[in-house]
Amino acid sequence: MIPLRIDKSRCVGCGSCVDVCPYDALKLIEGKAVYQLESCFLCGHCRAVCPVDALVIAGFEPQLELKTSPRTEHSSKASNVGDTKTSTLVALMRSRRSCRNYRDTEVALEVLEDLVKIAITAPSGTNSQGWRFTILPTRGDLMVLGAMVADYYRKLNRMARNPLLRCLVKYFTGDSLGRYYRNYYASVSEALYQWDDMGVDRLFHGATAGILVTAKLSSSCPAEDALLATQNILLGAHSMGLGSCLIGFAVEAMKRDSRIIKKMQIPQTEQIYSVIALGFPDVEFLRPADRKVVMPRILAFPNQPA
Ligand SMILES: Cc1cc2nc3c(=O)[nH]c(=O)nc-3n(C[C@H](O)[C@H](O)[C@H](O)COP(=O)(O)O)c2cc1C
Repeated sequence: MIPLRIDKSRCVGCGSCVDVCPYDALKLIEGKAVYQLESCFLCGHCRAVCPVDALVIAGFEPQLELKTSPRTEHSSKASNVGDTKTSTLVALMRSRRSCRNYRDTEVALEVLEDLVKIAITAPSGTNSQGWRFTILPTRGDLMVLGAMVADYYRKLNRMARNPLLRCLVKYFTGDSLGRYYRNYYASVSEALYQWDDMGVDRLFHGATAGILVTAKLSSSCPAEDALLATQNILLGAHSMGLGSCLIGFAVEAMKRDSRIIKKMQIPQTEQIYSVIALGFPDVEFLRPADRKVVMPRILAFPNQPA
């Protein structure tokens, strides 16, 4: 079953869904949006920008209604939660979307520094606070990273397209190169072509700043600490009207190419966990994120001691 349905009678052919799709999964044919893939990763951005609500993703929950009222009688009086309402928090979380269209305007360095302050309100294992942050304050700085990441994928693609090498690697270390070839080679080739020949930034999507989140490997839970801090940055940025997007492709390249780590002046005692692209969004999301319906397992054991 094709999970994305487009109501043709509603579609006005404005092309917003085509422009926002990171997968090029939609095309305008005879003035109507048409879904051209068997599947994409169903980010739902097409649905979020549609001015006439013409798209539906099967199996995704359109509304996330909370069952409880924001404050219960058991809420801690000492939690210093102030005036923050759960509904405000949920609205902020639900309306955050990964941004892949940015304006040229740069983000002030002070704002990026404030995001780091917001990041470190996160919990950390044994309160180690081993997270570290590297700010790339301008588009030019971000492009220094981008050029090195592109170079890494250029080399990886050269290796992956060699069938003999794929067999050899499989024999000695498993099928990772083959998997990369099957899943990513074609789209990365296209992105590299656009990067090299057309100047299109398919990596950072035109973002004007970046924050790299690393953590000291000697901390008890470096990955968890870094990723919790990362989520704070995404939400903090969103609350300030900034767009953000995690760039896993850049993280992968940094993990595997020590020259990038060196250029970004990250000590060997740290591991990279996230690369966050930031900037002022050039896209308007009209409705919040739907998610796949989730049914939590509820364990209610009988006959427990009081
Ligand atoms: C670990 C991780 C890595 C990601 N890497 C990329 C990436 O390299 N490029 C990109 O455009 N989006 C990337 N994303 C964004 C996801 O595609 C996005 O979060 C997902 O489609 C849901 O959309 P939303 O964030 O708008 O709700 C990444 C997200 C996560 C959590």
